[in-house]
Amino acid sequence: MSRRSMFLIAAAVVLLYFSIILFMLNPLHGSRGGYYGGGYMNSFAFRHDPPVNWCSELRWRNPPSPDVVALASYPGSGNTWLRYLLQQVTGVVTGSIYMDYGLRVHGFPAENVTDGSVLVVKTHAIPSDSDKFKSAVLLIRNPRDAILADFHRLHRGHIGTAPKSAFKKKSHENKKSDWATYVSTQLTAWESLNQMWLTRFPGPLHIVFYEILVRDTRNTLQGILDFLSYNVTETAMNCAMANKEGIYRRKKKYQDFEPFTADMYKALDQVRNRVLSMVMDYKRKHSNVLQVGYV
Ligand SMILES: *[C@@H]1O[C@H](CO)[C@@H](O)[C@H](O)[C@H]1NC(C)=O
Ligand SMILES: *[C@@H]1O[C@H](CO)[C@@H](O)[C@H](O)[C@H]1NC(C)=O
Repeated sequence: MSRRSMFLIAAAVVLLYFSIILFMLNPLHGSRGGYYGGGYMNSFAFRHDPPVNWCSELRWRNPPSPDVVALASYPGSGNTWLRYLLQQVTGVVTGSIYMDYGLRVHGFPAENVTDGSVLVVKTHAIPSDSDKFKSAVLLIRNPRDAILADFHRLHRGHIGTAPKSAFKKKSHENKKSDWATYVSTQLTAWESLNQMWLTRFPGPLHIVFYEILVRDTRNTLQGILDFLSYNVTETAMNCAMANKEGIYRRKKKYQDFEPFTADMYKALDQVRNRVLSMVMDYKRKHSNVLQVGYV
């Protein structure tokens, strides 16, 4: 092995552990007012309904790529925001296995397109043998914020936040609140989605932590572009960074309100740590083909 490749592998390993440490240090507990993390929602808040200003006019991938790349995540993990960033920086549309009419008219014309004419294809599903995905970007957000973001989306569609009462509501004969039941089923879903992509998907996988995407948007986005073998100019990257917030930032609300109990935090921590060790296992197994420098 040459000195250069040894250096690159060492650098990659250092960066990987640094990123995981950043992710781990992000406290789940006690960060009052921090429930909304970066504040980016999975879906749009069409508050003023402004048109999206694209850095360059959106186009289809031409020629189409022979390989289809999944953009996989649990709901509420910033999938739409990452699609937005990718569209800003490349000018190429991103697809989805779903047809979200709201998104289609607000900057995502390739809803329900799942072929090589798009850059990546959004999915919240677990990988299956019938997929045509050759590779995947797996976007992981900490389960507390992802579950809460999706709960808001379910209660308020594409706008705003769930009312406080939504966290208290109980169905008949149920001891637990609907919210508590929701947290435990969704936590299981969060774990199994990430586990399936980390252990069952046969193709190359590029793992992105949402928290690191928020903190270091430029380098994280560049890492994804390298994984996609898609070159962009520095001008395009600068323009995307100048417009990185897009039109969808959820208003922060209820900063004095804690929807999660101590027991929920315990469960969230355990599950998150299990997934993080699966990420480390994945990286260890694939370290000889590690894409240098990215997580
Ligand atoms: C999505 O695309 C498929 C295949 O192109 C098409 O048959 C289907 O009608 C589309 N769904 C919607 C809701 O437009
Ligand atoms: C991307 O840029 C690199 C370095 O400038 C070049 O070697 C490579 O061929 C380019 N790839 C594509 C797909 O344009």
